[in-house]
Amino acid sequence: MALSTPERFPLAFLPTPLQHADRLGARLGVEQLFIKRDDLTGFSLGGNKVRKLEFLIADALSQDADTILVMGGPKSNLCQATADAARVAGLACELVLYGDRPTPVPVNLALAEANGAVARFTGEAERSSVDVYAKQRAAALESDGHRVYVIPRGGATAVGAVGYHRAAAEIVAQLSEQGLETASLFICVGSGGTLGGVASGMAALGACWPLIGASVSRECDEARSQVLAIAGGCARLLGTEEPTQKLSLAMVDARGPGYGEAWSEASTAADLARRNEGLILDPVYTAKAFAALVHMIDGGLEGPVVFWHTGGTTTAIDAAPRRDFQ
Ligand SMILES: Cc1ncc(COP(=O)(O)O)c(C=O)c1O
Repeated sequence: MALSTPERFPLAFLPTPLQHADRLGARLGVEQLFIKRDDLTGFSLGGNKVRKLEFLIADALSQDADTILVMGGPKSNLCQATADAARVAGLACELVLYGDRPTPVPVNLALAEANGAVARFTGEAERSSVDVYAKQRAAALESDGHRVYVIPRGGATAVGAVGYHRAAAEIVAQLSEQGLETASLFICVGSGGTLGGVASGMAALGACWPLIGASVSRECDEARSQVLAIAGGCARLLGTEEPTQKLSLAMVDARGPGYGEAWSEASTAADLARRNEGLILDPVYTAKAFAALVHMIDGGLEGPVVFWHTGGTTTAIDAAPRRDFQ
């Protein structure tokens, strides 16, 4: 029995397509490879952030906020999509970003600023520096009379995860239309909000499908704890069954040389996805996750398997090699 149904501020075009990637599957030697196209959520170029923002923005509005304060890195996909979502909801938006203002300005930051977001930098390379700085900035804005809604890195809150809790029912229905009663769901993990939401949604449906997280920023144990914490928080918020020991949740390390560092295996994986299916994968999240999936398939993972494409389109464009012709 649900405790409450959180409000939704509609942004996404749902359901996103479920693509049967038979050319790519044949190339990798796996039957029934599907791509869940959350790069096509349809609002801004926000990918997986859009499902989260529908509930975060609605929550902000229900609290009469007038300003969204969102944290991330200078290239953050979340910050870019939040700037656009805040704008259409009539809210001001401030970005608290770690490090210093980069040159050239990354596409995501340029787009956010072009839509009126104000960017502030912590001056410290440490990712967690935004947590302290954002608190100070929120206090300063509140003392100036604003009502501030704070979105942490990755939008990883129980409220943000509700979007992916609902997406669990979406994928179950789409696969059932294909005559499938189960599949391995392979999902990129940064802050853990996406997989956390899916895990919560699967538990609510009583579906013990194999969930595999590809962690691109934290070591596996930490990523797993983070996913479970968010999944539990989301289930408690909604009053649904909490994920238990029965949950089949594996985590693979997809960091390569480190978060945000280039990884040749990820470029090779991105080329494969692009050449066989025209998929655009970004070097920070989706290409690394896909490289990890290729490893698992090489190691014997069998289909049906769903690669959840979480977006990153702007970063992929930013990172595309340019040739200057004279
Ligand atoms: C393109 C892309 N994919 C995957 C992720 C990871 O999602 P989550 O933070 O919900 O684990 C992110 C998060 O920043 C992202 O931008």
